[in-house]
Amino acid sequence: MSKLVDVAKVDDIPPGEARAYEVEGEQVGIFNVDGQFHAINNVCTHEEAPLHEGEVVDDKVICPWHQAEFDLKTGAAECPPAVEGVKTYKVVVSGDRVQVEI
Ligand code: FES
Repeated sequence: MSKLVDVAKVDDIPPGEARAYEVEGEQVGIFNVDGQFHAINNVCTHEEAPLHEGEVVDDKVICPWHQAEFDLKTGAAECPPAVEGVKTYKVVVSGDRVQVEI
């Protein structure tokens, strides 16, 4: 069963930036794209790079190690060398808190 977990303050993740959190044992990257929050599993499916360190272009993150691209909304791998997508998590903003459904 999924549950909503309080993870961060809105101000912890400014627009254009991303942070990594461990939530219930899962590595979660939370990205602020122009005020819209997206959460994906933070571990690249190619060789396990931390995706929150990657550059964000539009709604995609580019893996910092070998430049695979992942859609931040769907988790889909959009460019090799990664072929498998990453899990996505629903984000809820409640007041000044960012919560992730896990
Ligand atoms: S670790 Fe991400 S593309 Fe290789």
